[in-house]
Amino acid sequence: MHISELDTPALVIDLDIMERNLRRMSEYAASHGIRLRPHTKTHKIPALGRLQLDLGAAGLTVAKVSEAEVMLASGVEDLLIAYPLYGPKKWPRVAEVAKKTRLTVSVDSYEVAEPLIPTGVEFLIEMDAGLGRVGVRPEEVVPLAKRIGTNVRGLAFYPGHLKSNDPAGLLQVSNLVQQVLREAAAAGIEFELVSGGSTPTMWQSHLVQGMNEMRPGTYIFNDRNTIASGACGPEDCAASILCTVVSTSVDDQMIIDGGSKTFTSDQTAAGGYGEVLGSPEAFFFKMNEEHGYIKRNGAKFKVGDRARVLMNHVCVSVNMEERIYGVRGEEVVETWEVAGRGKLQ
Ligand SMILES: Cc1ncc(COP(=O)(O)O)c(C=O)c1O
Repeated sequence: MHISELDTPALVIDLDIMERNLRRMSEYAASHGIRLRPHTKTHKIPALGRLQLDLGAAGLTVAKVSEAEVMLASGVEDLLIAYPLYGPKKWPRVAEVAKKTRLTVSVDSYEVAEPLIPTGVEFLIEMDAGLGRVGVRPEEVVPLAKRIGTNVRGLAFYPGHLKSNDPAGLLQVSNLVQQVLREAAAAGIEFELVSGGSTPTMWQSHLVQGMNEMRPGTYIFNDRNTIASGACGPEDCAASILCTVVSTSVDDQMIIDGGSKTFTSDQTAAGGYGEVLGSPEAFFFKMNEEHGYIKRNGAKFKVGDRARVLMNHVCVSVNMEERIYGVRGEEVVETWEVAGRGKLQ
């Protein structure tokens, strides 16, 4: 099918760019002796998890037990739930997933770990590396590992506070990791895995000494946030939303058929809710649910024209789509159901 035959709005993936992103990351990780365990929150599609594994990933990451259930279809043999999940409805589901694959859960309290111990899962102790979201302080890692006492596989952290690929922040993270590893060694504890990483910092991951696993997610597609971080260029962005211009009745403005149910309200340093590819003068300044407001600033669009818009935060957009489309040039060659969308529990 030609791309012009797709109904809009449609989230399209340039497969050549996506595959290049995946290969580059696999090569980078391998060249630094770091295991790659991509976070699948960005695509939520088992076939893409499979592709990541086939291209060298050692395992996959999810945030929810429901996402873990979906991602089993990728055939993953080493799955991480990088989230301190808690709840009596969740524990039996975790146990079921753990029967089907090697399952590890990141925890930052004994309360989260204790009910999971009978399920046979393994644990990573989550340390706060500066984001201030979850994670114990570095000096609390070893005491928590000792208290859990069983199946502790290693250390996890997420440098989500670092929005650029500036090495200074990562060197601070490296110091924290070193501190924990020294304390673990002194206590006779050996951490098999030291798992961190993110997309903004992806090419500097080797600066974190002792980190032997990285979990970038957004890198598969990239987005305007990744460009703003300096970790990729516009040519590395694989995902965009194909929209139709549905109204030009207001002077020098156009309305596209994607609004806040398609794009994210996240803002980037570059401003606006997305970038109209090929028309840098156009400015995507406002959204209602079904309407995207674009100041044309002279850009020539008429009703019925199509625009491809690069989004600020691709993970959120994918989560709103039932299916997304893979294109090579102008040909639509793949349609994927977003099996992990809306899996909140
Ligand atoms: C715990 C954890 N690990 C890894 C990632 C992947 O981050 P990124 O999309 O920046 O690569 C996330 C993203 O939210 C995360 O929360």
